[in-house]
Amino acid sequence: MSTDAHLPGTADPRTPSQAPTPSENAPTSPNQEDQGAPVHQMLEPKPQSSTRSATPPAPEHAAPLVRPGSSVKLERLRAFYGEAEQVRGIDLEFRSGEVTAIIGPSGCGKSTMVRCINRMHEEIPGARAEGKVLLDGLDIYDPAVDVVAVRRAIGMVFQKPNPFPTMSVFDNVAAGLRLASRKAGDLQHRVESALRAAGLWEEVKDRLSAPGAGLSGGQQQRLCIARSLAVEPEVILMDEPCSALDPIATLKIEELIDQLKRHVTIVIVTHNMQQAARVADRTAFMLGGELVEVGPTEKIFTNPDDPRTEEYVTGKFG
Ligand SMILES: Nc1ncnc2c1ncn2[C@@H]1O[C@H](COP(=O)(O)OP(=O)(O)OP(=O)(O)O)[C@@H](O)[C@H]1O
Ligand SMILES: [Mg+2]
Repeated sequence: MSTDAHLPGTADPRTPSQAPTPSENAPTSPNQEDQGAPVHQMLEPKPQSSTRSATPPAPEHAAPLVRPGSSVKLERLRAFYGEAEQVRGIDLEFRSGEVTAIIGPSGCGKSTMVRCINRMHEEIPGARAEGKVLLDGLDIYDPAVDVVAVRRAIGMVFQKPNPFPTMSVFDNVAAGLRLASRKAGDLQHRVESALRAAGLWEEVKDRLSAPGAGLSGGQQQRLCIARSLAVEPEVILMDEPCSALDPIATLKIEELIDQLKRHVTIVIVTHNMQQAARVADRTAFMLGGELVEVGPTEKIFTNPDDPRTEEYVTGKFG
């Protein structure tokens, strides 16, 4: 990546950014200032803005302070749709600075589990979760936690690129930031940084005012990643981000994931075993709403502990 100096999340890891929280990478509601707080500041009441204004802005060309993203730990996580339990008591850690792939047959609960991690699951009528999701030790299901801040800290990218169709490339990335009334110059800087971090800047810098929907599928997916990065998340959840993309666009996303993992913890759901092998440090295999096993990717693919994992990764079912 050519522009680490302004990668979101690297300028000053613990400087409040006042960025708003996206829901599904998109803006949620107005009045979301003060959401750029680190994890421990997600507890309400939020810090006074006076302490924030005392923080000097990062210099325009500050040297990057690359820090890893936050760790996420699931403890006995269960998820329900009405009475149906589809995630059945999962204990799993997503380590800081790593990419973790989630694999398993269709319907085994991968998307459901991932949506629990940024509290999107509960948005589905009748759906609820039990257990703990710890973000750097803080339980994001604690009643005192600000859900909006959770979704800023833990961004999400979906299978189908979902840019706002009528918005320009620039506005798609700026959407979440605008809600925080950022100054125009700063907004431009942040949008450019996010587009560079998503590996898209060179391709779109001359068409920032063109509609986001006019980009190719792979570009749209990187636009969605840029939108997610703009609010400086600690973690990005990717649910089959490449399944609608051709091999070249897929490769670009995979290269991007490899670069981003230095400062954003990444969880990627994939049906593509080769992709898991290429991008993931660790791989978790799920079956029937349960975690069968998790381990270093190479071990999961070559010498798994559980025979069901071996059957799945060798294509015997799923
Ligand atoms: N909105 C919903 N309401 C009720 N049940 C649901 C809902 N969404 C998913 N489910 C059920 O929960 C289970 C897990 O679904 P989920 O989408 O998490 O699986 P998945 O592993 O992501 O599958 P795929 O690989 O096909 O995307 C399935 O049995 C599914 O039918
Ligand atoms: Mg799914």
